[in-house]
Amino acid sequence: MKKSFFLDFGFSLGPTFDEISILTQRPQNMSKRTLNVGLIGYNFMGKTHSNAWRQAPRFFDLPVDIALHTICGRSAASVEVARQKLGWQFASTNWKDVVSNPEIDIIDIATPNDSHCEIAIEAAKHGKAILCEKPLAVNVAQCEKMVAAVKKAKVPNMVCHNYRRIPAIALAKRMIERGDLGDRIYHYRARYAQDWIADPMFPLVWRLQSKIAGSGTHGDIDAHIIDLGRYLVGEIKDVTALMETFIKERPLLEESGSGLSAKASQKTGKVTVDDAVSWIGRFKNGAIANLEATRFAHGRKNHITIEINGSKGSLAFDFEDMNRLKFYNAADPSDANGFKDILVTEENHPYAGAWWPPGHILGYEHTFVNTFADFITAVAAGKSVHPTFEDGMNTEKVLSAVSASARSREWVRVS
Ligand SMILES: NC(=O)c1ccc[n+]([C@@H]2O[C@H](COP(=O)([O-])OP(=O)(O)OC[C@H]3O[C@@H](n4cnc5c(N)ncnc54)[C@H](O)[C@@H]3O)[C@@H](O)[C@H]2O)c1
Repeated sequence: MKKSFFLDFGFSLGPTFDEISILTQRPQNMSKRTLNVGLIGYNFMGKTHSNAWRQAPRFFDLPVDIALHTICGRSAASVEVARQKLGWQFASTNWKDVVSNPEIDIIDIATPNDSHCEIAIEAAKHGKAILCEKPLAVNVAQCEKMVAAVKKAKVPNMVCHNYRRIPAIALAKRMIERGDLGDRIYHYRARYAQDWIADPMFPLVWRLQSKIAGSGTHGDIDAHIIDLGRYLVGEIKDVTALMETFIKERPLLEESGSGLSAKASQKTGKVTVDDAVSWIGRFKNGAIANLEATRFAHGRKNHITIEINGSKGSLAFDFEDMNRLKFYNAADPSDANGFKDILVTEENHPYAGAWWPPGHILGYEHTFVNTFADFITAVAAGKSVHPTFEDGMNTEKVLSAVSASARSREWVRVS
């Protein structure tokens, strides 16, 4: 008999180390095909994506298995550290080698925005399924090329707007489609607020450079609430907007770094993106959009709030309380109405059934796992899943119209 995990009292107190490792290893289902993933970028999103690729087949009953094949970055030493920490089989410093590797089935793009287009087009040419971080690219023209490439190659594609797969958001979608808010939506009001660059001494990271990021707060976080508006309410027709860059000059990075936390040097450089954006617009179905995105709201870290008002009721969501959805039903008796507080963890709530018993809440990382589970299922069937590259392009068209309106100070039609 092998030694027990804790102490050898002559009887077993639990499984041995070997037994534990057998228990924690994912049982290989020999009848399932395995799809190999190549991940480009290993920092913030690289981490969330690595976790999601690993967890999705463990919690969801998927038709295929997933192998974390190759992780890619620019520095050999750093990518090797990431490979070991995040659990990938191979490391590479050349994304072209990864997208052309015949062993790889899925390319996952988690690099800064200016590289998405080139990597995706090359991956499509090699017949890979593609998951790409948002914003899809830095402008509409790049998005159009990417959409054309995936259509030509007929490869499954998706943009990683992970907030769509928050169970409360997916439930909101279900309730709106069921008519719980009535047959007319009047308002979509959304705010995405952060504060990580409110300090004027925070350095000029890539997110503050239009050449790399495309836009600032707009493409980074406004894109998410635009995507949610398009998902929950419909397509946007026209917009009028205001954008501001509060801090126009910032210290350069002490050393080339990329993340949300970085060190400043003595020299300064020009900020070439927006810091905040506020806009209103009209949906094609007549609803009014009212959106605000800022990285200058002290105290707001990753604050996403949404309210939707329809002819029969309202929904309200707050990401800092992401397991809950508030619902007001105008048909409730007037002396007993008010917002109902739905804890979205029941087995029949979207995605929740794959996780824990009711009341055992989910967090940020689960939004990615839920997203990747849907993408893997779609890839196994040779299909795309929403939000597709075409969705990403349509969101980019709204971003572009909002920017044009802020420049011209006129209403702009989303084309
Ligand atoms: N879905 C979300 O909620 C969400 C959140 C944050 C970021 N993002 C998006 O994810 C993407 C990455 O953002 P991040 O915060 O992880 O950035 P980051 O700066 O933290 O990491 C970027 C990574 O890309 C790698 N990289 C850059 N150029 C490369 C190249 N040419 N070849 C190989 N690797 C390269 C870097 O080494 C680094 O590992 C961006 O498009 C961003 O908009 C999405």
